[in-house]
Amino acid sequence: MAPPERSGAVAPGNEEAVRAWDTVLYERWKRNREVFVGALDEVTAELLERLPPPPGGRCIDVGCGFGETTRSLAALVGSDGFALGTDSSPRFIADARREADAEGIANVAFEVADAQTAAWEPVHDYAFSRMGTQFFSAPVPAMRSIRGALKRGGALRKVCWRRKEESPVWAETEQVVKRFLTRPEEHEADTCGPGPFSLGNPETCRGILEAAGFERVELHRRDFDYLVGRDMDEAVDAMLAIGPGAELIRLNGAHGDRRRPEIAEALADHYADWRRADGSVVGRASVWLVAAANPR
Ligand SMILES: C[S@@+](CC[C@H](N)C(=O)[O-])C[C@H]1O[C@@H](n2cnc3c(N)ncnc32)[C@H](O)[C@@H]1O
Repeated sequence: MAPPERSGAVAPGNEEAVRAWDTVLYERWKRNREVFVGALDEVTAELLERLPPPPGGRCIDVGCGFGETTRSLAALVGSDGFALGTDSSPRFIADARREADAEGIANVAFEVADAQTAAWEPVHDYAFSRMGTQFFSAPVPAMRSIRGALKRGGALRKVCWRRKEESPVWAETEQVVKRFLTRPEEHEADTCGPGPFSLGNPETCRGILEAAGFERVELHRRDFDYLVGRDMDEAVDAMLAIGPGAELIRLNGAHGDRRRPEIAEALADHYADWRRADGSVVGRASVWLVAAANPR
C-alpha cells in the first residue's frame, strides 16, 4: 500500500529529525511500543482526567505516533466530537489509520504533516501532544502553527520530559553507556533534532509558548514510576533502543554495535536495584504536564 501523502512541506531544519522518526526511530519505537507507550499511560490518563477535552469537541493530536492518544481523545469527546491525529512520519500514520479502522472508530482521522509548516484551520477546541513537541528546529513558529489550529479560547495540553537529570531512567542509563562510549565528533546517523529533553528547562518550555502567543501557561511537575520492562531483557532492549544511552550507541555506528553486549551487561547490573518482586524493572522519571490557552 502506498504511504499516506504529506500535507505541506517539511521545514528544511526538520528534515533530519523527520527522516529519523520515519526510519530507525519508527522501527525502534514500534518494536518496544508496549514499554514506551505503556510507561506513559499513567501520566497521560492524569492529564486527560484533570484537563479533559469538552464533550462534542474537536481535538488535534500533534506528533500522534500510532494514535493511541488520538483514539483516547475521540472516546472522550464522544460521537458528536472528533479527533485528528497528525504526525510527520508517513509510517506512523499508516499504522495509526490501520489500527483505528480495525477498531471501527468513526470519529478520528490521521494526516501526515510537519507541525512547523502545517497550515491548519482554526477549528479545534483542544490541541494535545504527548512527547511530540520537542523535536522542532524552530519551536516558536511550530507552536504558533499549533495555536493556529485552535479556535479562540481553545486549550493546549501536552506532556514533555523535564530535564534529563530529573529522570533517573534516562540519566543513569546514559551514564552507564558513557563508561564505554563517547559522543563521536562526526557521525552518519540522523538525529532527532533538539531531542526529547529540549523543553526540560521550565523557562524554555514556558517562553516558547508565550512567544508563540499562548496565554495562561501552566507547568505541573509530575514524578512517576516508569516501567522500563516486564523483565530484565525487555528493560535492557528498550533502553538501548530509544533515549540518550541508545543514541550514544547509534551515533557510534559499528563501533557502538560492537560494544553493545558489554553495555547490556552493565545495564542489567545497574537495573538490578530497580527490580521488583515480579521481575519487572521500574525506574523513576519526571515530566511536565503543560496547560495553555489560545487567547479569546
Ligand atoms: C516520542 S514520539 C511520541 C509519539 C506519540 N505521541 C506517543 O506518545 O506515543 C514523537 C513523535 O513526534 C513525531 N514528530 C517529530 N517531529 C515532528 C514534526 N516536526 N511534526 C509532527 N510530528 C513530529 C514523530 O514522528 C513521533 O511520532
